[in-house]
Parts: sequence; C-alpha cells; structure tokens
Amino acid sequence: MRILITGAQGQLGRAVVLEALRRGHEAIGVDVNDFDLTDSDAAGACLAAARPAFVIHCAAYTAVDQAESEPERAFAVNADGTRHVAEYCGAAGIGMIYISTDYVFDGSGAAPHETDEPPAPLSVYGKTKLEGERAALLACPNGIIVRTSWVFGPGGKHFVGTMLRLGREREAVRVVDDQVGSPTYAPDLARLLIDMAERPVPGIYHAANTGYCSWAEFAAEIMARAGLPCRVEPISSADYPQAARRPLNSRLSPLRLMAAGYDRLPTWQDALGRYLYGTK
Ligand SMILES: NC(=O)c1ccc[n+]([C@@H]2O[C@H](COP(=O)([O-])OP(=O)(O)OC[C@H]3O[C@@H](n4cnc5c(N)ncnc54)[C@H](OP(=O)(O)O)[C@@H]3O)[C@@H](O)[C@H]2O)c1
Repeated sequence: MRILITGAQGQLGRAVVLEALRRGHEAIGVDVNDFDLTDSDAAGACLAAARPAFVIHCAAYTAVDQAESEPERAFAVNADGTRHVAEYCGAAGIGMIYISTDYVFDGSGAAPHETDEPPAPLSVYGKTKLEGERAALLACPNGIIVRTSWVFGPGGKHFVGTMLRLGREREAVRVVDDQVGSPTYAPDLARLLIDMAERPVPGIYHAANTGYCSWAEFAAEIMARAGLPCRVEPISSADYPQAARRPLNSRLSPLRLMAAGYDRLPTWQDALGRYLYGTK
C-alpha cells in the first residue's frame, strides 16, 4: 500500500516510515521541507501529487511550553494543518490516522482515561491537539484518532535521552513524581499504526506502552537499567514550574484498542530495555 507519513523527520514519523518499509509498503515520508501544513494549497497539491492510499499524520507543533506564548502558530499547525490533511483524505475517500495526546485531558482522578471521556485540556498545546481531532473527524469521518503519551525513540529529543545525559553528569536529579502515565516507544506505536493502516477500524483509540509510572519512577528505571549511580529525588509538579500545565493523571485505557482487535503495546519496561540495548 502507498502510505504517506507527515512529520517523517520527527521521532514518531521516522519510526512509522521504517515500519511501513519493513512490511513492504511504499512509504512516502514528508516533512516541513516538502510543504508547510499551514498552507492549504501546498498541502493539497503535495497530497494530490503523491496519491497515497492512506495517510498517517504525525506532523505537529510539539513545543508544549512554547505554545503558551505562540498559540496562533500552534493552532495553525495542529488544528488548521490537520484540517488540510483531513480535507484531502475525506475528499479522496482514503483513510487517515491523526496522532493526538493525553494532554487533551485535565488529568483529574486516578482511573485510566477511556476514549469517550470528555476532554478538557489544560494547555494551549492540548487545546490545539483537541481542535485537530475535531477537524480530522469532521473532514474525514472514517478517520482514526490515536492518543498517545510520553513518546521516546531513536533520533528524538526526549525524556530518556535527557535522563541519560543528566545521569552521567550529576550525582542526583529532581524529577516530578505526581504526574502518572505511560512511556511510549515510537517503534512499538509505529507497529500499531501500520496494523491500523492495513486493517482500519474508524474511531478514537488510546495507545501507549503497557503499565503506568510517574516521571520519577521512569527516571529511576532509566538510571538503574543504564547502570548510572545517579540518585532520583522525587518532587511535586508545584516544585517544577513550567509554562504549560500538565495533567497529573495521564493514564490511558487500552480497552477500546483491545475491543477493536488490535494488539496492546508491550510493557514500558520491556520497551525501555529494547531502546537502551538497541534491539527492536
Ligand atoms: N512526543 C510526545 O511525547 C508526544 C506525546 C503525545 C502525542 N504526541 C504526538 O505525536 C505526534 C508525533 O510527535 P513527535 O514526538 O514525533 O514530534 P516531533 O519529533 O516534534 O515531530 C513533529 C514533526 O512535524 C514537523 N512539523 C512541524 N510543523 C510543521 C508544519 N507546519 N508543516 C509540516 N511539518 C511540520 C516537525 O518539523 P520541525 O521539527 O522542523 O518543526 C517534525 O518533523 C504529534 O502529533 C504529537 O502531537 C507526541
């Protein structure tokens, strides 16, 4: 199948391109150098020229804190840009997947969020991603929304890389312990996304590696698995001020994923081990 992947230079997009190729699909990876999503004419023309049979839309404005001070740009990329992609897919009658986020929830309670739970984003980034979901489903009603969380993978700038660097430089790191969610390994999510492209069941899904932890627990596991003697000191979100508010409860329920017959992702500990030791 001819699959077009936006955001192909990003950490998830590149994993999706690799997985599509591995399975013998024709993967067309595009990024901001090919066309800017916010330009509807350029987006429409590029998609029409590529003639994909399916689109996996990974491109996004992902600078969560910066979005608080440039909301227009974040809305333009995440909401308008997604609408441009979805309008093409809807009109061409092809399927698409839009990648969304745990940040569409306000993070109240401690139960895993189900897909039909009302979203209530706390940040500009979360609001723009939610608008992207709505735009995608409006223009492409047979589309698929996949909300994920805490992504890490080869070539990306992410928490695991930061912890490995700090772990080598310092004796101790202070890490937030009151935000709980699931780390997600980009190649594991990529496998699911290609499964979905091959057998699309429209709707909203939650997909992250299995199991929940706090950022501090994740950091402690990274240090231990990498053999770094760095101490992890748990702190609260209040002690680590950031421009954008994050949900305290980012647990995503896999029930809808399982009900549609898709495989759950492996545990986050298993994924971390494969990332650290270079096996897929
Ligand atoms: N990372 C996470 O923890 C996380 C968690 C939940 C959900 N998600 C979602 O997962 C998806 C993939 O995230 P990621 O971590 O792979 O992000 P990423 O590494 O930042 O990749 C996003 C890609 O989109 C490109 N892009 C940005 N603006 C664009 C525009 N106007 N036109 C075309 N391309 C543009 C970026 O190019 P530049 O780098 O040149 O800007 C980048 O290559 C996104 O939808 C994100 O919202 C991510």
